[in-house]
Amino acid sequence: MITTILDGKKTAELVRNALLAPIAQLIQTGHTPGLAVVLVGDDPASRVYVNSKVKACEQLGIYSQKWALPTETTQAELLELIRKLNEDPRIHGILVQSPPPPHIDEAEVIRHIDPRKDVDGFHPVNVAKLVLEDPSGFVPCTPLGCMELIKNYGIPTAGKHAVVLGRSMIVGKPMASLLVGKAANATVTIAHSRTRDLAEVCRSADILVAAVGKPELVRADFIKPGAVVIDVGINRVEDATAPRGYRLVGDVDFSAVQPLCSAITPVPGGVGPMTIAMLMSNTVKACRQISAG
Ligand code: GUN
Repeated sequence: MITTILDGKKTAELVRNALLAPIAQLIQTGHTPGLAVVLVGDDPASRVYVNSKVKACEQLGIYSQKWALPTETTQAELLELIRKLNEDPRIHGILVQSPPPPHIDEAEVIRHIDPRKDVDGFHPVNVAKLVLEDPSGFVPCTPLGCMELIKNYGIPTAGKHAVVLGRSMIVGKPMASLLVGKAANATVTIAHSRTRDLAEVCRSADILVAAVGKPELVRADFIKPGAVVIDVGINRVEDATAPRGYRLVGDVDFSAVQPLCSAITPVPGGVGPMTIAMLMSNTVKACRQISAG
C-alpha cells in the first residue's frame, strides 16, 4: 500500500500563512491579538509546549504573555491571575497549560476563564457550543488540528466509521463531536481503556484517532487495511542512545502500522504542530470577536 504521510509541519505552515492577512488587518485597526499562556509547576514537557506557543505568537506578530508560576501557587492566586487576564484589554486568549499540579482544581480554574477568551475551548460554554455546532464557540486546538489535517489532505469523512481511542476533555470527546458533526458526517465510536475487544473495535475503523497517551498501544492487528490513522500521542520513552536520554513515540507503533494505512501522521511532526497553529487561529478569532463587540 502506498501510504500518505500527513505532514503536520507543512500543514501548520499553511494555517499560519492564512492568518497573516487577518492579523495585519486587526493590527491596522488597533486590535493586536494577544495571548496569555499560564504554566503552573515545572513539568518538562509542559514547559516545552508553553515555550512553543509563545514562540508561535512571536513569529506571527501576536502579542503574548508567559506566566510561569511555581508549583506551590495556590488555587486562589491562580484564580486572581485569571481574573486580571479576563479584564486585560490586551489579552484575547487565556490558556492554562494542562495538567496543573494535583492541588489545583483545574475544572474550577477553567470555569473562571471568560468563555470569549477561552481559546482552549475547555469552558463549559464552549463545550456546549461545540455540541450545538455554534460556530462562535472555541474548539479545542488538538482535535481542531486533526480535522484541519484531514481536510487539507482531502480525506473523505462522510459515512466513514471513525473510531476515537480515548475519552479526554482535551482530545477524545471533542474529536468525536467534530467527526459526528454536520461538517464531517462520520459514524463515530469512542473506545477507551474499558472497551472490550479493543483491537477488534479499532479494526473496524476507516479513520482511527489514537489519543490515550500509551506508547505504541496501537499495533498492526488494530488496523483495517487502507485506514487513515491519526496519532495524537506524544510519549517520552527512555532511550539511552538518544541525545536527551529519551525519544518521542506516539500511541501508534508507526513502523508496524504505516505499511497497512492509506495515510498516517508521524510523531513528531504530525498532530503536534497543528495544535499550536490552531491555537493561533483561535486567538485571532477571539480578538476578532471581542473587538467586534
Ligand atoms: N495539555 C495538552 N494539550 C493541551 C492543550 O491543548 N491545551 C492546554 N491548555 N493544555 C494542554
